[in-house]
Amino acid sequence: MQYRNLDRPQWHVYPEQGLLNDPNGLVYFKGKYHVYYQYNFRDTTHRFKAWGHRTSSDLLTWSEEDIPLVPSEWYDKDGCYSGGAFVKDDCLYLFYTGTVIEEDGSKSSYQCLATSTDGYHLVKQGPILPHPEGYTRHVRDPQVFQGTNGRYYMLLGAQTNDLRGTTLTYQSDDLHTWKLMGETVPSVSLDSYMWECPNLVRLDEYDYFIFSPQGLPKEAERFRNVFSTTYYAGRFDEETGCFTPLTPLEELDKGFDFYAPQVFKGPHNESIMFGWAGVPTPEEESAIPTIAKGWVHTLTAARLLKEKDKRLVALPVIPDQLKTLSEEKDSCVVISQCSGAMSLKPQKDEWCLTSDSWKLIYREQTLSLSRTNWYSKYQESRMVYRGQIDTLLVTYDAHIGEVYINEGMAVATFKFFSDKNNMTVKYCLK
Ligand code: FRU
Repeated sequence: MQYRNLDRPQWHVYPEQGLLNDPNGLVYFKGKYHVYYQYNFRDTTHRFKAWGHRTSSDLLTWSEEDIPLVPSEWYDKDGCYSGGAFVKDDCLYLFYTGTVIEEDGSKSSYQCLATSTDGYHLVKQGPILPHPEGYTRHVRDPQVFQGTNGRYYMLLGAQTNDLRGTTLTYQSDDLHTWKLMGETVPSVSLDSYMWECPNLVRLDEYDYFIFSPQGLPKEAERFRNVFSTTYYAGRFDEETGCFTPLTPLEELDKGFDFYAPQVFKGPHNESIMFGWAGVPTPEEESAIPTIAKGWVHTLTAARLLKEKDKRLVALPVIPDQLKTLSEEKDSCVVISQCSGAMSLKPQKDEWCLTSDSWKLIYREQTLSLSRTNWYSKYQESRMVYRGQIDTLLVTYDAHIGEVYINEGMAVATFKFFSDKNNMTVKYCLK
């Protein structure tokens, strides 16, 4: 099969060569956005993880910077895994997980610090925590934030010795010495063996605990992907380090390709999220057509996060000039550019938006997204939204599609590969 949309994305972060996965160390620092990410620059496998680095002043155009963090020391020799950023006194603190493969093949993890005064040159400071007792070596992905009390908190994804996924909270007064407070969400026990990439996001009304639990049982309409990313709205108690959920578990993105997001504050205190448009099965991953061109995976667009009725609402940062599909009946739009957007106000009981490789179908108050899987060649679908749909925004950039329903009340990310020179998108209203 010859795929046509293998061009480079226009406004998404992707690696020129190699494999990208999680966004790391997201920060607005000294007048620029810095996006670091998990990066294997040697090939398109997950074998060797450094941090890649892009900078931007608009979240749309990206400069590729030198690779700032590479496995080199006894504590990170087999991988500089994911972590987050914190700025204090004009200095950037980057927390990450050093991975070491022991002689018997098992992996050890070390929570490490690197500091920087410019965001480009990182100085490794080594491990900052002893391994917590009662937990396996699957402890990783530090995220650091400051409480309203001025103290610093770190969340760490972890696995208990009896193989239950969880998150740990640590506290510090100086960002160097950390004390374990306990599990972050002790009131919750999910059927999951590991929680990756925890993030605490504090919005005006509630706190949001975002995490990527592995092994959740699949339900008819939720948690269909290899792994899902989920969240609770609730309250984080700075005295105990515990988060109390006030809502059921929600999926953060309803599409096929979304994992390990990170949220950071922009210059106007806005909350901005990037995720990895990723986590396919190993078979699907090695069949991703861009691999023939030496690279694989992208991040999602930057998404501005807000809250509405204890739910996270996300809208993307996209170029101003993107194409708009008007609200005509039965319109058919031939799209020859690989990147663009359509915004619609369907306000009807039944409609569909179809292209050769993906479809959005709205019927009986339910929106589903289908695509042709590039590996199995089968159609697969996800339930994206239930209820009245007033607005819909679909963006596509090379092979990354993103759907935003009702001003971001639901979002779905999907990779798609098309063998057509021009993408024809048909819009049918009934
Ligand atoms: C999530 C993850 C993290 C880890 C990193 C390694 O995708 O597994 O838990 O730090 O990727 O690349």
